[in-house]
Amino acid sequence: MPGAIYAEGLVKNFGDVRALDGVDLDVPEGTVLGLLGPNGAGKTTTVRVLTTLLQPDSGRAQVAGIDVLKQPNEVRRSIGLSGQFAAVDELLTGRENLTMVGRLYQMNAKAAKARADELLERFNLADAADRLAKTYSGGMRRRLDLAAALVVSPPVMFMDEPTTGLDPRNRQALWQIIQDLVAGGTTLLLTTQYLEEADHLAHDICVIDHGRVIARGTADQLKAQTGGERVEVVVHERAHIPVGVEVLRGRGVGEVAVEEHTRKLTVPVLGGAKLLADVIRDLDDRGVEIDDIGLRRPTLDDVFISLTGHAAEVAPANGAGATADGKDAAKDAQDPKDSKERAK
Ligand SMILES: Nc1ncnc2c1ncn2[C@@H]1O[C@H](COP(=O)(O)OP(=O)(O)OP(=O)(O)O)[C@@H](O)[C@H]1O
Ligand SMILES: [Mg+2]
Repeated sequence: MPGAIYAEGLVKNFGDVRALDGVDLDVPEGTVLGLLGPNGAGKTTTVRVLTTLLQPDSGRAQVAGIDVLKQPNEVRRSIGLSGQFAAVDELLTGRENLTMVGRLYQMNAKAAKARADELLERFNLADAADRLAKTYSGGMRRRLDLAAALVVSPPVMFMDEPTTGLDPRNRQALWQIIQDLVAGGTTLLLTTQYLEEADHLAHDICVIDHGRVIARGTADQLKAQTGGERVEVVVHERAHIPVGVEVLRGRGVGEVAVEEHTRKLTVPVLGGAKLLADVIRDLDDRGVEIDDIGLRRPTLDDVFISLTGHAAEVAPANGAGATADGKDAAKDAQDPKDSKERAK
Protein backbone atom coordinates (compact mmCIF):
# COMPACT_ATOMS: atom_id res chain seq x y z
CA MET A 1 0.00 0.00 0.00
CA PRO A 2 1.42 3.40 -0.92
CA GLY A 3 2.13 5.77 1.96
CA ALA A 4 0.40 9.06 2.74
CA ILE A 5 2.66 10.76 0.20
CA TYR A 6 3.59 8.72 -2.83
CA ALA A 7 5.30 9.67 -6.06
CA GLU A 8 6.55 7.60 -8.94
CA GLY A 9 8.81 8.77 -11.75
CA LEU A 10 8.08 12.48 -11.53
CA VAL A 11 9.64 14.39 -14.40
CA LYS A 12 9.41 18.12 -14.95
CA ASN A 13 11.30 20.20 -17.51
CA PHE A 14 11.42 23.98 -17.62
CA GLY A 15 12.72 24.60 -21.11
CA ASP A 16 16.21 23.10 -21.09
CA VAL A 17 16.31 22.65 -17.35
CA ARG A 18 15.33 19.21 -16.17
CA ALA A 19 14.10 20.18 -12.69
CA LEU A 20 12.80 16.68 -11.86
CA ASP A 21 14.38 13.67 -13.46
CA GLY A 22 12.31 10.75 -12.19
CA VAL A 23 11.64 11.35 -8.50
CA ASP A 24 10.14 8.47 -6.49
CA LEU A 25 8.94 8.98 -2.92
CA ASP A 26 6.96 6.95 -0.44
CA VAL A 27 6.23 8.46 2.96
CA PRO A 28 4.44 6.22 5.48
CA GLU A 29 1.53 7.78 7.35
CA GLY A 30 2.48 9.62 10.51
CA THR A 31 6.15 10.03 9.59
CA VAL A 32 8.38 12.88 8.49
CA LEU A 33 10.34 12.78 5.27
CA GLY A 34 13.22 15.22 5.03
CA LEU A 35 13.90 16.19 1.42
CA LEU A 36 17.44 17.40 1.47
CA GLY A 37 19.32 19.01 -1.35
CA PRO A 38 21.32 22.04 -2.48
CA ASN A 39 19.91 25.08 -4.26
CA GLY A 40 18.24 24.10 -7.50
CA ALA A 41 18.08 20.39 -6.64
CA GLY A 42 14.33 20.23 -7.31
CA LYS A 43 12.90 20.38 -3.79
CA THR A 44 10.38 23.16 -4.38
CA THR A 45 9.40 21.69 -7.74
CA THR A 46 8.65 18.37 -6.01
CA VAL A 47 6.55 20.13 -3.39
CA ARG A 48 4.68 22.11 -6.03
CA VAL A 49 3.80 18.97 -7.98
CA LEU A 50 2.65 17.13 -4.86
CA THR A 51 0.51 20.06 -3.74
CA THR A 52 -1.20 20.34 -7.17
CA LEU A 53 0.38 23.71 -8.00
CA LEU A 54 2.34 22.34 -10.94
CA GLN A 55 1.68 19.62 -13.50
CA PRO A 56 4.54 17.19 -14.03
CA ASP A 57 5.50 16.18 -17.58
CA SER A 58 5.21 12.56 -16.54
CA GLY A 59 4.92 10.36 -13.51
CA ARG A 60 2.18 9.95 -10.97
CA ALA A 61 1.53 10.91 -7.38
CA GLN A 62 -0.92 10.30 -4.57
CA VAL A 63 -1.41 12.28 -1.41
CA ALA A 64 -3.58 10.94 1.40
CA GLY A 65 -4.58 8.17 -0.99
CA ILE A 66 -5.92 10.62 -3.59
CA ASP A 67 -4.54 10.98 -7.11
CA VAL A 68 -2.83 14.36 -7.41
CA LEU A 69 -3.35 14.72 -11.16
CA LYS A 70 -6.88 13.36 -11.36
CA GLN A 71 -8.41 14.87 -8.21
CA PRO A 72 -6.46 18.01 -7.36
CA ASN A 73 -9.33 19.66 -5.51
CA GLU A 74 -9.76 16.71 -3.18
CA VAL A 75 -6.02 16.68 -2.54
CA ARG A 76 -6.08 20.37 -1.66
CA ARG A 77 -8.68 19.69 1.01
CA SER A 78 -6.42 17.15 2.69
CA ILE A 79 -3.17 19.08 2.82
CA GLY A 80 -1.52 22.07 4.39
CA LEU A 81 1.29 23.91 2.66
CA SER A 82 3.83 26.38 3.86
CA GLY A 83 5.77 27.52 0.82
CA GLN A 84 9.37 28.63 0.55
CA PHE A 85 8.30 32.26 0.35
CA ALA A 86 5.81 33.43 2.93
CA ALA A 87 2.39 34.10 1.47
CA VAL A 88 0.60 36.39 3.88
CA ASP A 89 -1.85 39.17 3.17
CA GLU A 90 0.12 42.32 3.87
CA LEU A 91 -2.92 44.51 4.36
CA LEU A 92 -4.38 42.37 7.12
CA THR A 93 -3.09 42.07 10.68
CA GLY A 94 -1.50 38.85 11.84
CA ARG A 95 -4.68 37.91 13.68
CA GLU A 96 -6.88 38.71 10.67
CA ASN A 97 -4.69 36.60 8.41
CA LEU A 98 -5.20 33.59 10.64
CA THR A 99 -8.93 34.05 11.29
CA MET A 100 -9.45 34.49 7.54
CA VAL A 101 -7.86 31.10 6.91
CA GLY A 102 -10.07 29.54 9.58
CA ARG A 103 -13.18 31.05 7.98
CA LEU A 104 -12.08 29.80 4.55
CA TYR A 105 -12.00 26.34 6.04
CA GLN A 106 -15.56 26.81 7.32
CA MET A 107 -14.74 27.31 11.00
CA ASN A 108 -17.27 29.49 12.83
CA ALA A 109 -16.08 32.94 13.90
CA LYS A 110 -15.48 31.95 17.51
CA ALA A 111 -13.50 28.83 16.69
CA ALA A 112 -11.45 30.68 14.09
CA LYS A 113 -10.57 33.40 16.59
CA ALA A 114 -9.66 30.90 19.30
CA ARG A 115 -7.42 28.99 16.92
CA ALA A 116 -5.78 32.23 15.75
CA ASP A 117 -5.04 33.26 19.35
CA GLU A 118 -3.55 29.88 20.15
CA LEU A 119 -1.27 29.97 17.11
CA LEU A 120 -0.21 33.59 17.64
CA GLU A 121 0.86 32.61 21.13
CA ARG A 122 2.73 29.53 19.94
CA PHE A 123 4.61 31.36 17.25
CA ASN A 124 5.61 34.27 19.52
CA LEU A 125 3.43 36.67 17.57
CA ALA A 126 0.92 37.61 20.27
CA ASP A 127 2.43 41.06 20.81
CA ALA A 128 2.32 41.85 17.11
CA ALA A 129 -1.06 40.21 16.48
CA ASP A 130 -2.91 43.43 15.73
CA ARG A 131 -0.29 45.03 13.52
CA LEU A 132 -0.55 44.89 9.74
CA ALA A 133 1.52 42.06 8.32
CA LYS A 134 3.37 44.51 6.07
CA THR A 135 5.10 45.87 9.18
CA TYR A 136 6.41 42.42 10.13
CA SER A 137 10.06 41.42 9.83
CA GLY A 138 11.03 38.55 7.51
CA GLY A 139 11.13 36.05 10.37
CA MET A 140 7.73 37.21 11.65
CA ARG A 141 6.16 36.80 8.22
CA ARG A 142 7.65 33.36 7.97
CA ARG A 143 6.11 32.40 11.32
CA LEU A 144 2.75 33.88 10.38
CA ASP A 145 2.80 31.88 7.15
CA LEU A 146 3.60 28.69 9.06
CA ALA A 147 0.84 29.44 11.56
CA ALA A 148 -1.59 29.92 8.66
CA ALA A 149 -0.66 26.49 7.33
CA LEU A 150 -1.56 25.02 10.73
CA VAL A 151 -4.95 26.66 11.31
CA VAL A 152 -6.69 23.44 10.38
CA SER A 153 -4.68 20.31 11.12
CA PRO A 154 -4.64 18.53 7.78
CA PRO A 155 -3.57 14.88 7.68
CA VAL A 156 -0.69 15.70 5.32
CA MET A 157 1.55 18.76 5.54
CA PHE A 158 4.21 20.14 3.24
CA MET A 159 6.76 22.64 4.49
CA ASP A 160 9.30 24.08 2.09
CA GLU A 161 12.35 25.23 4.07
CA PRO A 162 10.25 26.11 7.11
CA THR A 163 13.09 27.30 9.31
CA THR A 164 15.09 29.32 6.78
CA GLY A 165 15.36 32.84 8.16
CA LEU A 166 14.25 31.98 11.69
CA ASP A 167 16.43 32.87 14.63
CA PRO A 168 17.57 30.01 16.90
CA ARG A 169 14.78 30.48 19.45
CA ASN A 170 12.05 30.45 16.84
CA ARG A 171 13.67 27.57 15.04
CA GLN A 172 13.58 25.55 18.25
CA ALA A 173 9.94 26.55 18.76
CA LEU A 174 9.08 25.37 15.27
CA TRP A 175 10.88 22.07 15.77
CA GLN A 176 8.73 21.50 18.86
CA ILE A 177 5.56 22.34 16.96
CA ILE A 178 6.53 19.94 14.19
CA GLN A 179 7.21 17.18 16.69
CA ASP A 180 3.81 17.76 18.33
CA LEU A 181 2.09 17.69 14.94
CA VAL A 182 3.67 14.41 14.03
CA ALA A 183 2.89 12.93 17.44
CA GLY A 184 -0.73 13.78 16.59
CA GLY A 185 -0.54 11.63 13.44
CA THR A 186 0.25 14.17 10.73
CA THR A 187 2.41 13.05 7.83
CA LEU A 188 4.96 15.68 6.89
CA LEU A 189 7.24 16.32 3.95
CA LEU A 190 9.79 18.92 4.89
CA THR A 191 12.48 20.34 2.67
CA THR A 192 15.62 21.66 4.21
CA GLN A 193 19.18 22.58 3.47
CA TYR A 194 20.08 22.11 7.10
CA LEU A 195 21.46 18.65 7.47
CA GLU A 196 21.18 18.90 11.21
CA GLU A 197 17.49 19.68 10.89
CA ALA A 198 16.79 16.61 8.77
CA ASP A 199 18.76 14.59 11.29
CA HIS A 200 16.70 15.95 14.15
CA LEU A 201 13.18 15.87 12.70
CA ALA A 202 12.94 13.35 9.91
CA HIS A 203 12.31 9.62 10.19
CA ASP A 204 13.60 9.18 6.67
CA ILE A 205 15.74 11.36 4.47
CA CYS A 206 15.86 11.62 0.69
CA VAL A 207 18.89 13.37 -0.68
CA ILE A 208 18.08 14.98 -3.99
CA ASP A 209 20.46 16.53 -6.49
CA HIS A 210 19.81 17.65 -10.08
CA GLY A 211 16.22 16.39 -9.89
CA ARG A 212 17.14 12.86 -8.83
CA VAL A 213 17.01 11.05 -5.51
CA ILE A 214 20.63 10.06 -4.99
CA ALA A 215 20.26 8.44 -1.58
CA ARG A 216 17.58 7.58 0.91
CA GLY A 217 17.39 6.11 4.36
CA THR A 218 17.41 7.08 8.00
CA ALA A 219 20.06 9.53 9.13
CA ASP A 220 21.93 6.60 10.69
CA GLN A 221 21.79 4.52 7.52
CA LEU A 222 23.07 7.41 5.45
CA LYS A 223 25.88 8.02 7.89
CA ALA A 224 26.81 4.35 7.84
CA GLN A 225 27.08 4.52 4.03
CA THR A 226 29.81 7.07 4.44
CA GLY A 227 31.93 4.56 6.26
CA GLY A 228 31.76 4.59 10.02
CA GLU A 229 33.90 6.61 12.34
CA ARG A 230 36.59 9.18 11.77
CA VAL A 231 39.61 10.20 13.79
CA GLU A 232 40.01 13.94 13.95
CA VAL A 233 43.31 15.41 15.10
CA VAL A 234 44.29 19.03 15.58
CA VAL A 235 48.07 19.26 15.52
CA HIS A 236 49.77 21.97 17.53
CA GLU A 237 51.94 23.34 14.71
CA ARG A 238 51.39 23.71 11.02
CA ALA A 239 54.83 22.28 10.40
CA HIS A 240 53.62 18.96 11.85
CA ILE A 241 50.80 18.53 9.35
CA PRO A 242 52.79 16.37 6.85
CA VAL A 243 53.97 13.93 9.53
CA GLY A 244 50.49 13.87 11.02
CA VAL A 245 49.06 12.99 7.61
CA GLU A 246 51.58 10.16 7.26
CA VAL A 247 50.60 8.71 10.63
CA LEU A 248 46.88 8.91 9.90
CA ARG A 249 47.35 7.39 6.48
CA GLY A 250 49.00 4.42 8.14
CA ARG A 251 46.15 3.89 10.58
CA GLY A 252 43.11 4.98 8.55
CA VAL A 253 41.05 3.29 5.84
CA GLY A 254 40.64 6.21 3.45
CA GLU A 255 41.91 9.59 2.34
CA VAL A 256 43.20 11.98 4.99
CA ALA A 257 41.37 15.31 4.80
CA VAL A 258 43.48 18.32 5.75
CA GLU A 259 42.15 21.66 6.86
CA GLU A 260 45.28 23.83 6.83
CA HIS A 261 44.04 26.90 8.67
CA THR A 262 42.65 24.98 11.64
CA ARG A 263 45.45 22.35 11.47
CA LYS A 264 42.76 19.67 11.51
CA LEU A 265 43.34 16.25 9.98
CA THR A 266 40.52 13.74 9.53
CA VAL A 267 40.58 10.14 8.39
CA PRO A 268 37.97 7.36 8.29
CA VAL A 269 38.94 4.46 10.57
CA LEU A 270 37.88 1.06 11.78
CA GLY A 271 38.69 -0.01 15.30
CA GLY A 272 37.29 2.59 17.66
CA ALA A 273 38.95 3.54 20.93
CA LYS A 274 41.87 1.12 20.66
CA LEU A 275 42.80 2.61 17.32
CA LEU A 276 42.59 6.07 18.80
CA ALA A 277 45.17 5.04 21.41
CA ASP A 278 47.42 3.69 18.61
CA VAL A 279 47.19 6.96 16.72
CA ILE A 280 48.09 8.95 19.82
CA ARG A 281 51.11 6.72 20.43
CA ASP A 282 52.27 6.97 16.80
CA LEU A 283 51.99 10.75 16.85
CA ASP A 284 53.87 10.92 20.11
CA ASP A 285 56.65 8.64 18.75
CA ARG A 286 57.04 10.98 15.76
CA GLY A 287 57.18 14.07 17.98
CA VAL A 288 53.86 15.51 16.82
CA GLU A 289 52.23 17.60 19.51
CA ILE A 290 48.43 17.58 19.46
CA ASP A 291 45.91 20.16 20.64
CA ASP A 292 42.90 17.93 20.27
CA ILE A 293 42.03 14.42 19.15
CA GLY A 294 38.78 12.52 19.01
CA LEU A 295 36.69 9.86 17.41
CA ARG A 296 33.51 11.04 15.73
CA ARG A 297 30.74 9.59 13.64
CA PRO A 298 30.26 11.08 10.18
CA THR A 299 27.90 14.01 10.12
CA LEU A 300 25.22 14.38 7.50
CA ASP A 301 27.50 17.00 5.95
CA ASP A 302 30.10 14.29 5.39
CA VAL A 303 27.37 12.15 3.83
CA PHE A 304 26.28 14.94 1.58
CA ILE A 305 29.76 15.71 0.38
CA SER A 306 30.57 12.08 -0.27
CA LEU A 307 27.33 11.57 -2.21
CA THR A 308 27.32 14.69 -4.32
CA GLY A 309 31.00 15.57 -4.48
CA HIS A 310 30.11 19.01 -3.16
CA ALA A 311 28.88 20.53 0.05
CA ALA A 312 25.23 21.44 0.48
CA GLU A 313 24.07 24.96 -0.34
CA VAL A 314 26.68 26.04 -2.82
CA ALA A 315 24.99 25.47 -6.17
CA PRO A 316 23.35 28.56 -7.64
CA ALA A 317 19.58 28.44 -7.86
CA ASN A 318 19.60 28.12 -11.64
CA GLY A 319 20.69 24.52 -11.41
CA ALA A 320 24.13 25.21 -12.84
CA GLY A 321 25.75 23.74 -9.74
CA ALA A 322 27.59 21.14 -11.79
CA THR A 323 30.00 23.81 -12.97
CA ALA A 324 31.28 24.45 -9.45
CA ASP A 325 34.48 22.59 -8.77
CA GLY A 326 33.66 20.17 -5.98
CA LYS A 327 36.72 20.95 -3.90
CA ASP A 328 36.40 24.70 -3.97
CA ALA A 329 32.71 24.39 -3.37
CA ALA A 330 33.32 22.33 -0.26
CA LYS A 331 35.75 24.93 1.02
CA ASP A 332 33.36 27.77 0.30
CA ALA A 333 30.61 26.06 2.17
CA GLN A 334 32.30 25.89 5.53
CA ASP A 335 29.67 28.18 6.92
CA PRO A 336 26.52 26.80 5.35
CA LYS A 337 24.36 29.72 6.45
CA ASP A 338 26.76 32.21 5.00
CA SER A 339 26.97 30.50 1.63
CA LYS A 340 23.18 30.21 1.51
CA GLU A 341 22.99 33.97 1.87
CA ARG A 342 25.53 34.45 -0.88
CA ALA A 343 23.83 31.96 -3.18
CA LYS A 344 20.57 33.91 -2.99
N1 LIG B 1 9.12 28.24 -12.99
C1 LIG B 1 10.33 27.88 -13.38
N2 LIG B 1 10.80 28.22 -14.60
C2 LIG B 1 12.03 27.85 -14.99
N3 LIG B 1 12.88 27.11 -14.26
C3 LIG B 1 12.48 26.75 -13.04
C4 LIG B 1 11.19 27.12 -12.53
N4 LIG B 1 11.07 26.59 -11.30
C5 LIG B 1 12.22 25.95 -11.04
N5 LIG B 1 13.07 26.03 -12.08
C6 LIG B 1 14.40 25.40 -12.17
O1 LIG B 1 14.28 24.06 -11.77
C7 LIG B 1 15.38 23.66 -10.96
C8 LIG B 1 14.88 23.17 -9.62
O2 LIG B 1 14.35 24.27 -8.90
P1 LIG B 1 13.70 24.15 -7.46
O3 LIG B 1 13.07 25.47 -7.14
O4 LIG B 1 12.83 22.96 -7.41
O5 LIG B 1 15.00 23.92 -6.56
P2 LIG B 1 15.12 23.85 -4.96
O6 LIG B 1 15.72 22.53 -4.66
O7 LIG B 1 13.83 24.18 -4.33
O8 LIG B 1 16.21 24.97 -4.69
P3 LIG B 1 16.35 26.05 -3.47
O9 LIG B 1 17.13 25.38 -2.41
O10 LIG B 1 17.15 27.16 -4.10
O11 LIG B 1 14.98 26.49 -3.08
C9 LIG B 1 16.28 24.87 -10.88
O12 LIG B 1 17.26 24.73 -11.87
C10 LIG B 1 15.37 26.02 -11.19
O13 LIG B 1 16.08 27.09 -11.77
MG1 LIG C 1 13.22 25.69 -3.09
